Amino acid sequence: MAKLTLLENGPILFEADGTYVYQHGGQDETLDQKAVALCRCGASANKPFCDGSHKRIDFKAEGGEITLK
Ligand code: FES
Repeated sequence: MAKLTLLENGPILFEADGTYVYQHGGQDETLDQKAVALCRCGASANKPFCDGSHKRIDFKAEGGEITLK
């Protein structure tokens, strides 16, 4: 099971209890961390991951939660 948490004014926190394979730039990459922050503001220099740039650009967005089963 995995959970997506939209942090208020920040990234999407992806939490999983297993290993996931995703495609980035046309290549498969493995995500084996239990939690990772994904950029949703568009300003990260390390996309798809959040690098904290949302604070610099004063990104505003509501929070929320999605559970994937
Ligand atoms: S959400 Fe953090 S850098 Fe984009």
